[in-house]
Amino acid sequence: MTEYFHSNNFVLYKGDCIKVLQGLSENSIDMIFADPPYFLSNGSFTCRSGKRASVKKGDWDLGQGSIKNLEFHIEWLKECKRVLKDNGTIWVSGTYHSIYQCGVALEINGYHFLNDIIWFKPNAAPNLSCRFFTASHETLIWARKDKKGKHTFNYNLMKNGKWKEDSLKKDGTQMRSVWSIGTPKPSEKLFGKHPTQKPLDLLKRIILASTNEGYTVLDPFAGSSTTGIAAVINGRKFIGIDTEEKYLDLSVKRYKGLVLEDNEDKTLNRSHYKSFGQQYLLEKSGKYRVNKRKK
Ligand SMILES: C[S@@+](CC[C@H](N)C(=O)[O-])C[C@H]1O[C@@H](n2cnc3c(N)ncnc32)[C@H](O)[C@@H]1O
Repeated sequence: MTEYFHSNNFVLYKGDCIKVLQGLSENSIDMIFADPPYFLSNGSFTCRSGKRASVKKGDWDLGQGSIKNLEFHIEWLKECKRVLKDNGTIWVSGTYHSIYQCGVALEINGYHFLNDIIWFKPNAAPNLSCRFFTASHETLIWARKDKKGKHTFNYNLMKNGKWKEDSLKKDGTQMRSVWSIGTPKPSEKLFGKHPTQKPLDLLKRIILASTNEGYTVLDPFAGSSTTGIAAVINGRKFIGIDTEEKYLDLSVKRYKGLVLEDNEDKTLNRSHYKSFGQQYLLEKSGKYRVNKRKK
């Protein structure tokens, strides 16, 4: 199995995730984040920048009917379970088009559910048809490989960290299961766009909640590698898989934008540290509260 890109903390494979996962060692991954195809590229329309736009994301998002879609989810989740460590956890993200099937597939594979999280998008696109409620959330299922496993949950950081991007999270209170996080900022699309790119703030929270420094995080549907960028910024290692070369190239650009080109140690670009790495620095120092900057 040839790597598409390799660095000390960021590895990409090109191919069908089921096959690539079969080539990876069992019990080797600490956490998986998966954002599988929603299978909703069926000729419908949505609203983008105030205009009517097709929901077709690409051929990879064309469904093959309920049974075949479910079989696909069962299969990739089976391979994920094999590579996960016994104490490892998996996050699966989706809309109502896919998340229920993913839930069934997780259950069939014997995962143990920990939470479902509502990711509320305060800036979701309006509904053009005016015949339905405006879809403004996605669901994330968080599950453990094994019922008896001892999973990682950084409770204190979730409770006492600064989560200023989220208007629902009050300082010093327990982190709840509804997260208000906006869609990706323009600065996250500096190197190009992925049609279903996730916000860095969402992945940052997931990674900080369920992994520790040095852990290995895998994303079988990496896309633009939002998971990988959030992992590296926060001192974790990343393995990403995608079938599409253009998204892997975008991932490489995002990664290279993160590290100083001329620095062999791959030191992180300070501006990224400033914008996204603060929680990591806090976590490292063991202090979860930041002093407000003097104006
Ligand atoms: C919903 S997108 C993930 C977007 C990603 N979370 C991001 O932030 O950019 C799903 C990705 O899975 C890839 N994909 C679809 N089927 C695949 C398969 N069988 N194996 C690996 N990748 C696949 C697509 O090319 C697409 O980039």
